[in-house]
Amino acid sequence: MIITQIKQRRKELDRDKNVYVPHMVLVDKIIEETPTVRTIHFHFKDPELNKEFTFEAGQFAELSIFGVGEATFCISSSPTRNDHWECGINRVGLVTAALHRLGVGAEIGFRGPYGNHFPLDIMAGKNLVFVGGGIGLAPLRSLIWNVLDNRDKYDKIAIIYGARSPGDLCFKYDLDTWEADQSLNTIITVDKGDAMWKGREGFVSEALRDAAPSSRNAVAVVCGPPVMIRSTFPVLEQLGFMPDQVITTLEKRMKCGIGKCGRCNIGNLYVCRDGPVFSYAQIKGFISDEY
Ligand code: FES
Repeated sequence: MIITQIKQRRKELDRDKNVYVPHMVLVDKIIEETPTVRTIHFHFKDPELNKEFTFEAGQFAELSIFGVGEATFCISSSPTRNDHWECGINRVGLVTAALHRLGVGAEIGFRGPYGNHFPLDIMAGKNLVFVGGGIGLAPLRSLIWNVLDNRDKYDKIAIIYGARSPGDLCFKYDLDTWEADQSLNTIITVDKGDAMWKGREGFVSEALRDAAPSSRNAVAVVCGPPVMIRSTFPVLEQLGFMPDQVITTLEKRMKCGIGKCGRCNIGNLYVCRDGPVFSYAQIKGFISDEY
């Protein structure tokens, strides 16, 4: 009996040491953001973890479906709102397709949080310019809500967000809230509108150029598809932003999430281990070739 208990305890200790063993989480709610993007709300099955789990805006997690695989996703909810956690899932492969087939109550694996985070200490007291495209709003909204929940620590805030079409705009409920907030300068654009669209048309980089936020005492945070990031950096430079005033997050080809597999290297950096949050100064040398 005692030997069995010891063996069981050894197994538990081995499990605790194995960084690949996930915690189990339960899906609470699903929001279909666009035809290919859904947000999953979840909580931990272990009540203690629900109390203890913390993360910082910008960090990511590995979500797994047994028998299918695992993939990395940024945590898209704010650390300031800890009653549940959220990830935005863009359906692009086997794991994400399986995550899109889940219903409320489903049980999935969770590893994390991993990676570094947005530098809120550097952003304090500054004017903030958030520039997002498509599903890139997922990590950005974690940061935006974190900032808005501590609004008095920051000066002017501009949010410039776009997608290919009105149907591709994610987190519309957040966009509505931010547009209604008179303390924010929120600009929404789509590459091409439809018959119902009354808003702005054009690329995010063009909306940024037209808004022309001052670079003085400012930090810009840019998240979006590579093509948007590549077109946005030059506009920020024209507006006077220095490379260390521009922050971005890269989610490139990550697999293990913990610096073991080598899949996510960009230049001399590992996105999972050294990022995913980088300043433009850190990645400027190889952004056009590798991302
Ligand atoms: S994801 Fe494996 S090394 Fe970065």
